Amino acid sequence: MSEESVAAGTAPWATHLGRVAVVTGAARGLGAAIARGLARRGATVVAVDLTAAERTRQEIEEAGGSCVPLTADVSDPAAVRALHEAVLSACGPTDILVNNAGIAGMAKLEDVDFARWRRVLSTNLDSHFLMSSAFAADMREREWGRIVNMSSSAIYTNTRDMTPYLASKAGILGLTSGLANDLASYGITVNAVSPAFTRTPLIDETVADGSMPPGIDALLADEQAIKRVATPEDIVGTVLFLTGDDSAFVTAKFIAADGGYTRIY
Ligand SMILES: NC(=O)c1ccc[n+]([C@@H]2O[C@H](COP(=O)([O-])OP(=O)(O)OC[C@H]3O[C@@H](n4cnc5c(N)ncnc54)[C@H](O)[C@@H]3O)[C@@H](O)[C@H]2O)c1
Repeated sequence: MSEESVAAGTAPWATHLGRVAVVTGAARGLGAAIARGLARRGATVVAVDLTAAERTRQEIEEAGGSCVPLTADVSDPAAVRALHEAVLSACGPTDILVNNAGIAGMAKLEDVDFARWRRVLSTNLDSHFLMSSAFAADMREREWGRIVNMSSSAIYTNTRDMTPYLASKAGILGLTSGLANDLASYGITVNAVSPAFTRTPLIDETVADGSMPPGIDALLADEQAIKRVATPEDIVGTVLFLTGDDSAFVTAKFIAADGGYTRIY
């Protein structure tokens, strides 16, 4: 069956048809792949990024899906309020929120001043709080909602020079747990996904600026049960499960889509 028929809702796997899904950091990398995946399942995707996610929109529309690119800095409270209004008027209330936008901000601890600490924490953690608070209002009213937050399997490792990043990604677990408690009675589930090292522009830039050594991808992949470097598409299926009806009784979970890099705890 064609992508067009999926978008039209005639295919049995159009599991997200009629849903409005907001994905942050959707111009590239994991966010773009997640946006494409949600659109393939029939959702109307709002692709949010600092600059217009035009390529994501083009890819989704070429496959017969629906995408509205909107720009916002999701770490800025006023920008998030304006974004919520813009999504309401463009697409109506939001059903699904994927908080994916994030930065690495790698640096030696002695070079981490308060400004750098705040930049990483506000982009990676404050944004998840701001977006969840704003968009949960739509979900509460309709008594159905899915929120997925993007953590990282790096929090379990001995990786150096990532203190603000690791603090932000571990903070997402506490936020996910709290939101799950507070939103469960409204039919809203809240979960976190943790990818392992995944080949994206973020990683290419971190290697290019010297804050991560070249060849690190192969070294880390060797620590996984599945010994290849992840691509953004490897993470999409987990997000699709957590944003659909099949995961209605799954909440406050931290699910690793990491090829077996981390183990059962
Ligand atoms: N790539 C990996 O190996 C890996 C591993 C574990 C977790 N993650 C997490 O997955 C998420 C996506 O990572 P990626 O590798 O695709 O990164 P990426 O840098 O390729 O893409 C991130 C996108 O987020 C956007 N963004 C950044 N700050 C923003 C803001 N304040 N407002 C709106 N948009 C903003 C960027 O413009 C960019 O388009 C991040 O949260 C990252 O920490 C990535």
